[in-house]
Amino acid sequence: MKICRLSVMRMANYADLSAQYENPQPHPCDLTQGQVFYTRGRQPAGLCDSAWATLSPFVMALGNGAAGLYDGWMKDPASAMVSCNDGFRPVSFLVEALEEPLIRPLEPEDADRMGDVPFAAWQPQEMAFVAELGEKIVGFCVYRPSRDEDRKGFGEIDSIYILKRAQGLGIGKRLLDAAFRELLPGLGVTVWAPKENPSAIGFFENYGFQADGAEKVLHPEKGAAIRMVWNSREDLPWPI
Ligand SMILES: CC(C)(COP(=O)(O)OP(=O)(O)OC[C@H]1O[C@@H](n2cnc3c(N)ncnc32)[C@H](O)[C@@H]1OP(=O)(O)O)[C@@H](O)C(=O)NCCC(=O)NCCS
Repeated sequence: MKICRLSVMRMANYADLSAQYENPQPHPCDLTQGQVFYTRGRQPAGLCDSAWATLSPFVMALGNGAAGLYDGWMKDPASAMVSCNDGFRPVSFLVEALEEPLIRPLEPEDADRMGDVPFAAWQPQEMAFVAELGEKIVGFCVYRPSRDEDRKGFGEIDSIYILKRAQGLGIGKRLLDAAFRELLPGLGVTVWAPKENPSAIGFFENYGFQADGAEKVLHPEKGAAIRMVWNSREDLPWPI
């Protein structure tokens, strides 16, 4: 199923109707105009049930390849403009089915296109891939030969990051795949994962990494990290 982007386009508020008919609401609506969600069919975190109730059939249709809904209603046939079902403050969403994420090498011009992706290392960064989704950069992966004395001949995943709203869509795995294609063949690939980040550790384990027992503090403010290794069998000259 394709990834769909759900963008908050307009937020109406019928205060007179609320004053007359509605009981006080502690959290009437947490959305903000311009907010963006991505989904491969599941209700995205932070999107309320009311919105998902009306959006989900359109996400399912467009995500599975439907186009030109209602006899060519939308200029972009792979999209729909749909509102949530709150009659006091309807929110209009643009639902768009996107092409699969594009994984490509980082380019110098990307410095100005990172948006809210916190890419810290803005020195020339040759060994990095970025992930583009709907023409926006949503993540990156920096890789290099391992700097560890006891892991000579290994590659290293230096860092990998996906915007929170684009996590869980398979983009991190694609970035790792791309880095692996550059780092292998070799003795294997390592990554230093923050000890207190079970989500990252689970992601790397799912990919086939295993902790090798090494541990160190990479950045004082970030706490300890554990080393995880893909293909840690020391007796193998090449990955199997
Ligand atoms: C960790 C991170 C890179 C994962 O990227 P992602 O795009 O969300 O992950 P994907 O959707 O590509 O997941 C790929 C696979 O890993 C699995 N996976 C992801 N997180 C997992 C976890 N915590 N435990 C077990 N499996 C996990 C997925 O289920 C998926 O499995 P599948 O291929 O069988 O369907 C991303 O969540 C992130 O950027 N987190 C914040 C930054 C960070 O922690 N970076 C790592 C620091 S070293």
